[in-house]
Amino acid sequence: MEKLVLDGGVPLTGTVAASGAKNAALPILMATLLAPGEHRLANVPDLADVSHTLSLLGRIGCPSLAGSTTRVDTTRIAFSEAPYDVVRKMRASVLVLGPLLAREGAAKVSLPGGCAIGVRPIDQHLKGLEALGCRFVLEGGYVIGETDGLRGAEIHLDMPTVTGTENIVMAAVLAEGTSVIDNAAREPEVVDLCNFLVTLGAKIEGIGTSRLVIEGVSRLTPAARPYRILPDRIETGTYLAAAACASGDVTVTDTDPSELGAVLDTFREAGCFVETTPTTIRLRRDGPVRPFKLRTEPYPGFPTDMQAQFMTLACVGVGTSEIIETIFENRFLHAAELGRMGARIETHGNTAKVHGTGRLQPASVMASDLRASAALVLAGLAAEGLTEVLRIYHLDRGYDDLVGKLRTLGARIGRVSDAERDPARIQQALVA
Ligand code: EPU
Repeated sequence: MEKLVLDGGVPLTGTVAASGAKNAALPILMATLLAPGEHRLANVPDLADVSHTLSLLGRIGCPSLAGSTTRVDTTRIAFSEAPYDVVRKMRASVLVLGPLLAREGAAKVSLPGGCAIGVRPIDQHLKGLEALGCRFVLEGGYVIGETDGLRGAEIHLDMPTVTGTENIVMAAVLAEGTSVIDNAAREPEVVDLCNFLVTLGAKIEGIGTSRLVIEGVSRLTPAARPYRILPDRIETGTYLAAAACASGDVTVTDTDPSELGAVLDTFREAGCFVETTPTTIRLRRDGPVRPFKLRTEPYPGFPTDMQAQFMTLACVGVGTSEIIETIFENRFLHAAELGRMGARIETHGNTAKVHGTGRLQPASVMASDLRASAALVLAGLAAEGLTEVLRIYHLDRGYDDLVGKLRTLGARIGRVSDAERDPARIQQALVA
C-alpha cells in the first residue's frame, strides 16, 4: 500500500480542470443496463469506483472499454447479481438493483452494511421498488428481488435519498404507467442521471425538482452520441478549499459554479475572495480565515461531502466556527485526526465547534472515508513541514489524479510505499 507525503505551508497558485462527477458517473454507468446495446460516455473520471463499477458490469456480462470516453456494451446480461466482494468495496453497487429488476425482473445484490460514515440503510430504495411491484427477501446477507412486471406507483420518500431516488427512477422508466416520486433528491447528479435516461428515450418530468413524474416506456435504446458526464462539484470545491486552507490563488475550470452556491457563500463568509464565470471559479485568500457557520443539508443546501474540508479550513482560521452535520450520523471521524495535527475541535452529537488557532502542525494521519481523507490532505497542505496521509485508497476512489492536479498548483506532494521512512527518498517523491 502507498501513503501520500506532503511538504505543506506553500501557497497554491494556478489552474486545474475539474473531472467528471463520480456520483453522476456511477449511476449513469449502471443505467446503461436499461438499454441493450453499446453506450458511449464522455468525461468519465479515472477513479477506483469507476473501475469497480466497470468490473461489476463485466461480472453481469457487459464488457467495457475504460477511458475518458468509456464504452459499455449491455447487449446481453448473463448474471443478475452484485456479489459481496464487489459491494463491500463500493456501496454504490446497490445502484444495480433498479436497472436489473427493470430489465431482467430479478436481482441479487449483497447488502452494503454499515460504513465509516454511518449505518446507511437502503429501506427507502426497497420501499420504492416494492411500490413498483417488486418483492424482496433477505438471504445470507443478500437482498433478492423479483418482479412479474413493474407498474407505475406514487412513492413518497421519507428523506430525499440520492441513490434511493436514482434506483427508483431507473426502475420507473421501464414500468407500465405513470410513477410519481415525491420528496425526490434534487442533487445535480440525480439531474444528470435523469438527463441521461431521457437521451435513451425515458419520459421524466420535474427533473431538478423534488417531484419527479415518470411515464414508463416499453424499451430504451442507447443514444447515438456520447453522453457527457457533468463536472464534479465536490472535486471542484475540494481544490478551492485547498487554496483557502493553504492560502493562494486558484482557478478551477470546466466546472459549474451554479451548483456550488452554498459552498461559495461559506468561502466568502470565511474571508475568501471568490469570482465566477459560467464555467470557472477563482478563489483567492491572502488574509486570515474568519470563523463561519455551516449546516449540511440536501441540495441546494451545503453538501455533506464538503463538510470535512471546511472543518480543516476552520482549523486554520482564527476564532470559533460551528459545523452541524444533518445528513449522516457519524461523519466527524476526521475531527480526531485533525486533533493530532493540533486542531481544537469539540463535538457534541451532530455539532462540532472548531476553535481555530491559525495554524496546524504536520503529522502522520489516516482517514476513515473519502472526504475525510481529502480534509487531511488539505490540512497537510496548510501545515508547515512533512505530513503523511495513510490509507490513500479512499482518495483513489474519488479524486482523479489528485497528486498531479495539486502539483500543478505548486504543492509539494507525492506517493511512496507505506513502509518508506528514508527522508531522501521521501524528498525525491515530493519533487518527482
Ligand atoms: N437513508 C436511509 N434510508 C435509505 C437511504 C438513505 O435512512 O434507504 C439515509 C442515510 O442513512 C443518510 C441519508 O438518508 O443518513 C442520506 O443518504 P443518501 O441515501 O442520500 O446517501 P447515498 O445515496 O448513500 C450519496 C452519495 C454520497 C453523499 C450522499 C449525500 C453516491 C454514490 N453517494 O450517498 O457520496 O454523501 O449521497 O449527498 O451518490 C461521497 O462521494 O463521498 C459520498 C459519500
